Amino acid sequence: MPPFPAIAEAAALLRAGGLVAFPTETVYGLGADAADDRAVAAIYAAKGRPSFNPLIVHVAEAGQLDEEVVWNPAARRLARRFWPGPLTLVLPRRPESRLSLLCSAGLDSLAVRMPAHPLARALLQAAGRPLAAPSANRSGRVSPTTAAHVRRELGGRAAMILDGGPCAIGLESSVLDLSGAQPRLLRAGGLPRQALERELGPLASRIDNGQPLSPGQLPSHYAPSLPLRLNARTVSPDEALLAFGTALSGAADSENLSPGGDLTEAAARLFAALHRLDRPGFAAIAVMPIPMEGLGEAINDRLIRAAAPRPRSQS
Ligand code: TXA
Ligand code: MG
Repeated sequence: MPPFPAIAEAAALLRAGGLVAFPTETVYGLGADAADDRAVAAIYAAKGRPSFNPLIVHVAEAGQLDEEVVWNPAARRLARRFWPGPLTLVLPRRPESRLSLLCSAGLDSLAVRMPAHPLARALLQAAGRPLAAPSANRSGRVSPTTAAHVRRELGGRAAMILDGGPCAIGLESSVLDLSGAQPRLLRAGGLPRQALERELGPLASRIDNGQPLSPGQLPSHYAPSLPLRLNARTVSPDEALLAFGTALSGAADSENLSPGGDLTEAAARLFAALHRLDRPGFAAIAVMPIPMEGLGEAINDRLIRAAAPRPRSQS
């Protein structure tokens, strides 16, 4: 872990309106002072992100959100149970909130989360203010789970990159919308659906009326450059293989998410494996079937998006 001076320097950069990439337990984030319009706009510019995509606001303490969002009993209960941790709550935004309207991107809600990674917590505490932070990748690309990924994605677009080693969970947070009449899981993520359902009862599936509820639901959102071939039961010699369990043989190159079939281990390795296999020279990445239980829902969600046809702007 970097020494304290690195945290102090990062916090000073953030307070001055700069962008700092930092590790969380899920993926690396690209942080900015959430109340500073120019800093938040700089995040969108650095990511090349369409501006309709709202950002998660990160805090060190739940109390930092009291003037920004309207808490309801379910939100309080979930925050007590799962924070700090890989759960993002979408709550109604208070009209008097001083956070940048760009964080909400035109919605009347705010997505908020308290990360568990010790470096993220130290940084949030030192900055002394909420930080807006999307995953630290260029828009439409796979989230970074190491500082090297961030460097490759964003290069000098961040004033500083804090290196906390590989992310323990390796998948983005679960995004739960508690701003409407029914709780809705907008994004399967690092906290399995079953854990939320134990608290809330069965969760309404993500319905939409044609419009994505959450831009993270855009079909192609986590795209490597190579095409992905899902549920592969065979592999050809010109393909790279993303294996799970006992690997198929005969691929040009391969990564095994978990030889022993452990979904938590597979989640932690997913994005790093995609980053490594996504190289020119292979015809495609063949992906072996992954079961749907536990973190398998989030892993399959990311793989299905990564395999979806891409709009030109994201390719
Ligand atoms: O694990 C994570 O959540 C990471 C780390 C850095 O915290 N952050 C992350 O941020 O994945 P990002 O911006 O890549 O994804 C945020 C997701 C997007 O799908 C976005 O559309 C959704 O949260 N979101 C943000 N604000 C929202 C809101 N007000 N209503 C609905 N969805 C929202
Ligand atoms: Mg992202």
